[in-house]
Amino acid sequence: MPLPSLANSSFLAAALLAWYPRHRRDLPWRLTRDPYPIWLSEVILQQTRVAQGLPYYLDFVSSYPTVQNLAAAPEQEVMRHWQGLGYYSRARNMHHTAQQVVREFGGQFPDTYAGLLKLRGVGPYTAAAIASFAFNEAVAVLDGNVFRVLARIFGLHSDIAAPSSRKEFQALADQHIPHDEPAEFNQAIMEFGAIQCTPVKPDCLFCPLQSQCYAFQHGLVALLPVKAKAKATRTRYFHYFVLRHGEQVYLRRRTEKDIWQGLYDFALAETDSPTLPESEVLRHIEALGGELDLSRVAEAPAAFRHVLSHQKVEAQFHPVWLAQPLPPSTLRDTGLQAYSAAEIEELPKAVLISNYLR
Ligand code: ADE
Ligand code: SF4
Repeated sequence: MPLPSLANSSFLAAALLAWYPRHRRDLPWRLTRDPYPIWLSEVILQQTRVAQGLPYYLDFVSSYPTVQNLAAAPEQEVMRHWQGLGYYSRARNMHHTAQQVVREFGGQFPDTYAGLLKLRGVGPYTAAAIASFAFNEAVAVLDGNVFRVLARIFGLHSDIAAPSSRKEFQALADQHIPHDEPAEFNQAIMEFGAIQCTPVKPDCLFCPLQSQCYAFQHGLVALLPVKAKAKATRTRYFHYFVLRHGEQVYLRRRTEKDIWQGLYDFALAETDSPTLPESEVLRHIEALGGELDLSRVAEAPAAFRHVLSHQKVEAQFHPVWLAQPLPPSTLRDTGLQAYSAAEIEELPKAVLISNYLR
């Protein structure tokens, strides 16, 4: 049942809709109502900021102009286009979703919020974004920007990291979204959070909502939103054995349920220590059935680190020259395979591995 327009009754909508046309950035996904590129942009932007996401977006829409193109692409190729964005399960979900849209929905995205939620990897935020931007459904988006803007303007002190806060913020946002311009309102409130009401040093001095803003009026701008501290990051120590025979290097696909699932790396030992004594290196190579090429001078290990959202990986890469190829039993047990440099170039790899190879 359509609700009456709230455009004139919400001070928030009125202010944001006046602010938005004067401040909006020109972003390519705002020029379309086609749900496919809108969905692509939202999946990418969940992962990264606009400046970093933009080239990925342009690459995806030009490499895969339709959802059918994306669905038909090999998974490894899609992963390679995603490389550098992190959270590779998102890329796999994205690819799966494209196939789901083609197979279950005849190539058409569902055109309602409820329908969109049935897609893999599409949660309340993405469903609201697509439903409003593509289909004009009046459901408010809630991302980090929106949480912050609402917390400050309305003086909400609930912890925005707590799942239970979502209902409260969603109800408030849904109460203010104008039913005749939901897409514009959603873009506006996100853009307002990104440009004006920023996490640090928001531009309160020139803010059209200053006189109605609880946080500003009460001197609480720096204290809102309330967000519980994320749990501490842990450090993991990876010791990679870069096993080489002739022109080939041994890599394996990471199949375990861990970071970088589906990506390729080298033979790996994880320990509690940042370094691995040479005797241990030799023991691991022996356990893999590797026979050292003693005519080659051993190279010193190279150290790289990679910071993820909840963990830090400190990696040592030990280059190893083998006199013989690894035995077939090792390949079977470990998934290691010998690849040429050109083949390695084509494999999807974690950024840590690409950095080392460079
Ligand atoms: N971040 C997430 N979605 C966005 C959008 N549509 N425009 C700008 N920034 C965004
Ligand atoms: Fe945000 Fe400051 Fe404007 Fe309040 S006055 S909405 S805190 S920019």
